[in-house]
Amino acid sequence: MFLKGIVICFSLCVLVMSCQYTNRSELDEKYILNKISDRLHAGILELDTPRLPRSVEGGKTRFTSPRSWTSGFFPGILWMMASYEPHKKWSNEAHKYTELLENVKYETGHHDLGFMLYNSYGLGYSATYNPAYKEVLLTGAASLASRYDTLIALIKSWDRPGKWQYPVIIDNMMNLEFLLWAGKESGDSTFIEMAISHADETLKNHFRPDYSSYHVVDYDTATGEPAWRGTHQGLNDSSDWARGQAWGLYGYTMMYKETGHKRYLNQAKSIAHYLLNHPNMPEDLIPYWDLKDPGIPNTHKDVSAAAITAAALLQLSDYLKNDQQLAYMVTARKILANLDQSYTYENEDNRLFYLDHSVGSKPKNGEVGVPIIYADYYFLEALMRSLERR
Ligand code: GLY
Repeated sequence: MFLKGIVICFSLCVLVMSCQYTNRSELDEKYILNKISDRLHAGILELDTPRLPRSVEGGKTRFTSPRSWTSGFFPGILWMMASYEPHKKWSNEAHKYTELLENVKYETGHHDLGFMLYNSYGLGYSATYNPAYKEVLLTGAASLASRYDTLIALIKSWDRPGKWQYPVIIDNMMNLEFLLWAGKESGDSTFIEMAISHADETLKNHFRPDYSSYHVVDYDTATGEPAWRGTHQGLNDSSDWARGQAWGLYGYTMMYKETGHKRYLNQAKSIAHYLLNHPNMPEDLIPYWDLKDPGIPNTHKDVSAAAITAAALLQLSDYLKNDQQLAYMVTARKILANLDQSYTYENEDNRLFYLDHSVGSKPKNGEVGVPIIYADYYFLEALMRSLERR
């Protein structure tokens, strides 16, 4: 009798423990969003003046100038928090940090205006319809469009004379939503034509037959044809830089959402299939910084690539049917649950960042294995997308 009691007790304990484990390994978006809210709220109070957090290096927060490509992510995070918790004062903060970026609208020296303005002023405009925000956005979109060349039919990413003639990087797909928005808002279809042309040329020239992508394609300015394909942030010219694969997946999914052109959906599906079935993709689906690093598994993972992938898969799942739709939704949620369970930044002295273990530029040894703001941005976007689809 006594023994029977012990056996029942033990079984109950195992049952309770396994339930707890199951609960913890499932994704609870609200629980995570509330944790992010508490941390961020405390983090902001610790800032004496509004500054734009970018990453943590050597234990210190690195802030960015409004002119760097990462400046829009922190304001964007604040706008997302404002939409999650409208009763709180997030939008006051969001306005304050967004407006640090106003002069970015005149930037014509590089392509990153989509990241910078659309993620900050763009989210702010869709929340407030403030006409001053619209002006910044349309001026900024015109600055971005000034980098489009009609012969090459793409937006030039960087100005690096001597190294490249007309470099276009896969990340540039992330600017196109901004151009499409500008076309719709202004009624000037040139923005839309540029975005579609950029996506089509990238589809043609940036991908290998297995749907992995090069990071950089340099175009010959005389012929408009690709002159060189390789990398800048990946391991080598024929490797698979993880964040680049994620930008491509996100970019083509967005292009399908915005245009309805089937070729973009097919491209997004092929990239997702390639990425998720990569022989070097770890079981927890948090990819190594470059999927062809021979050091795998003894090399860094890139949490930012995982967060971007999760956000993209949730969007992509809307356009799929039955099993495939469910599979991508479940996969994205698994990525998010794993990020929350094993990749958070456990530092109570710095609450501006939530996730740890991203890789900025491994070849330059910059921001390797640290919290980076864009990982948090796409993590938050993915959590909100996941919650909307419950
Ligand atoms: N272009 C920015 C990055 O992904 O590093």
